[in-house]
Amino acid sequence: MLELRQITQDYGERPLLCGVNLTVAAGEVVALLGPSGSGKSTLLSIVAGLQMPRDGEVWFDGQNITQMPPHKRHFALMFQDFALFAHLNVQDNVAFGLIEQRMPKPQARTKALQMLEVFGLAHYAQQRVWQLSGGEQQRVALARALITRPRALLLDEPFSALDADLRVAMRQEFSQHIAQAAIPTLLVTHDVAEAQAMASRAVRLVDGRLKADT
Ligand SMILES: Nc1ncnc2c1ncn2[C@@H]1O[C@H](COP(=O)(O)OP(=O)(O)OP(=O)(O)O)[C@@H](O)[C@H]1O
Ligand SMILES: [Mg+2]
Repeated sequence: MLELRQITQDYGERPLLCGVNLTVAAGEVVALLGPSGSGKSTLLSIVAGLQMPRDGEVWFDGQNITQMPPHKRHFALMFQDFALFAHLNVQDNVAFGLIEQRMPKPQARTKALQMLEVFGLAHYAQQRVWQLSGGEQQRVALARALITRPRALLLDEPFSALDADLRVAMRQEFSQHIAQAAIPTLLVTHDVAEAQAMASRAVRLVDGRLKADT
């Protein structure tokens, strides 16, 4: 279970997050809505450990991880510009996280291929990522995120680069893979319909505080 307690952050004079509390259980998908600039990505990067909150704590399964460096958290983070490696083929992109965890390369590649099969992308294994469509690249990014069996999944506007039809099509597919992982998932989105389709519940960040979205 992922738990945010009284997370507070500001840049200079301007308060951005003012005592944010949030609990996300295993298998639960919580959508984080809110206007542009309200601090959604900032909150996600605090959860990921990429920045420290000025005040407050991040807990995971009964452990205070506020000071824990990002790689030790074993959280997967997927941004809107999913940042696949252009110099690697699809299979090696997916294998990357495993190799980083010191799994031997041949084994990592085999596992990556299995993951690509689950995602229906095995036939692209040897392609460069830039030869794939936006939606396909997004699927590769999710496969890469989930192959390391992260303890939590953090998605920041994962479909914002896709056109409207594809966004809708991706919802269900992503939801299935996320449900399989059965981990706490925090989904940042602008799109209320997307939140309704994918999340167990939605919260809205307004003036630095979270409100239940009704
Ligand atoms: N490292 C930083 N230093 C100073 N200001 C920052 C920093 N990071 C973010 N900000 C500011 O904090 C505010 C919130 O940014 P953030 O990216 O969290 O918003 P957001 O809700 O994700 O917006 P969007 O929906 O546009 O992605 C913005 O005004 C941004 O300019
Ligand atoms: Mg953002």
